[in-house]
Amino acid sequence: MLYYTPCSLLLGAIFLALTFIYQSNAQLSSTFYSNTCPNVSSIVSNVIQQALQFDTRITASLTRLHFHDCFVNAGGPSWNVLVGRRDSLIANQSGANSSIPSPTESLANITAKFSAVGLNTTDLVALSGAHTFGRAQCRFFNQRLFNFSGKGIPDPTLNSTYLSTLQQNCPQNGNGTILNNLDPSTIDTFDNNYYSNLLTNQGLLQTDQELFSTNGSSTISIVNNFANNQTSFFQAFAQSMINMGNINPLTGNQGEIRSDCKKVNGS
Ligand SMILES: *[C@@H]1O[C@H](CO)[C@@H](O)[C@H](O)[C@H]1NC(C)=O
Ligand SMILES: *[C@@H]1O[C@H](CO)[C@@H](O)[C@H](O)[C@H]1NC(C)=O
Ligand SMILES: *[C@@H]1O[C@H](CO)[C@@H](O)[C@H](O)[C@H]1NC(C)=O
Ligand SMILES: *[C@@H]1O[C@H](CO)[C@@H](O)[C@H](O)[C@H]1NC(C)=O
Ligand SMILES: *[C@@H]1O[C@H](CO)[C@@H](O)[C@H](O)[C@H]1NC(C)=O
Ligand SMILES: *[C@@H]1O[C@H](CO)[C@@H](O)[C@H](O)[C@H]1NC(C)=O
Ligand SMILES: *[C@@H]1O[C@H](CO)[C@@H](O)[C@H](O)[C@H]1NC(C)=O
Ligand SMILES: *[C@@H]1O[C@H](CO)[C@@H](O)[C@H](O)[C@H]1NC(C)=O
Ligand SMILES: *[C@@H]1O[C@H](CO)[C@@H](O)[C@H](O)[C@H]1NC(C)=O
Ligand SMILES: *[C@@H]1O[C@H](CO)[C@@H](O)[C@H](O)[C@H]1NC(C)=O
Repeated sequence: MLYYTPCSLLLGAIFLALTFIYQSNAQLSSTFYSNTCPNVSSIVSNVIQQALQFDTRITASLTRLHFHDCFVNAGGPSWNVLVGRRDSLIANQSGANSSIPSPTESLANITAKFSAVGLNTTDLVALSGAHTFGRAQCRFFNQRLFNFSGKGIPDPTLNSTYLSTLQQNCPQNGNGTILNNLDPSTIDTFDNNYYSNLLTNQGLLQTDQELFSTNGSSTISIVNNFANNQTSFFQAFAQSMINMGNINPLTGNQGEIRSDCKKVNGS
């Protein structure tokens, strides 16, 4: 079972089915809520189920929030566990922070950011699989569509059919806030199609396609593995979510309990 407190807790419910790794220590424990809220697991699951009926994107939103939260709190990695954590005082859902990888960074730079918090390339490729659902605004990838790296042509690692679609959705000097599906094949389903898309040059963000299209990269074989074996992806994703959640978690009187998951209280 994977449990988190308040906002992070919601996320945990999504991954109950995927998660089977379980440890405990003094501060974060698997029984943190056993007295104060014994049914926390089913309550959270019900909330998520209800929310999903209104917004199929909530899983993607929560995953992104967890990602941002974990990265801004990045300090020394800790491989302990799971419940009793609190929400960050720094990460807004939209807040930028230099320790958060950006969608236009080089694979080498992203790998370094992950490594700095104790996550390896398997974690990087597995966690990128969260782009199996959700949307991205044009401004996060339109640098690929017309004049990539100042060379006068689109990113050569973009599938030409897919490129045409994206150029229509995101015209030059158009509205950068328009949304596009991160996984054009199965937009709201949590599956391994994200990786099959990379095999046909249909990664939306530069940082997605780089995992497969960077010559000689050790990430290529991991992408191939996840594209060919969904079970392998699901197992790796669950483990990497835990690894990421254990980056210097906030406990006790650190952090806070958010009243609105999107933002730090009082901001
Ligand atoms: C927990 O949930 C079960 C079934 O969902 C219910 O029967 C039980 O009363 C609940 N316990 C508490 C303490 O809410
Ligand atoms: C969070 O966002 C609010 C506006 O929504 C802003 O006022 C605040 O400065 C942001 N905090 C951080 C740490 O980025
Ligand atoms: C980003 O996070 C780091 C580490 O938590 C913090 O020291 C830094 O001030 C943050 N930068 C911004 C721009 O918020
Ligand atoms: C990679 O990181 C270096 C050092 O922080 C920076 O100068 C460079 O612009 C980054 N490159 C990319 C493509 O992100
Ligand atoms: C990354 O770490 C995991 C353990 O969490 C390990 O199983 C995996 O082989 C490592 N991947 C690489 C590429 O070193
Ligand atoms: C592409 O961008 C470069 C650098 O910004 C610029 O010099 C060049 O004229 C642009 N090419 C086209 C076709 O717009
Ligand atoms: C861009 O689109 C958003 C809605 O998607 C709208 O709120 C905003 O005003 C538009 N901006 C411009 C410059 O047209
Ligand atoms: C581009 O995508 C199409 C599917 O839309 C696929 O059939 C084709 O093989 C892809 N091309 C390349 C070069 O990957
Ligand atoms: C990768 O290598 C192939 C052939 O070996 C080459 O055509 C391609 O341009 C290279 N891609 C990059 C991004 O360097
Ligand atoms: C797929 O991955 C799982 C988990 O790593 C493994 O047990 C299974 O043997 C793999 N299946 C194939 C066909 O390789």
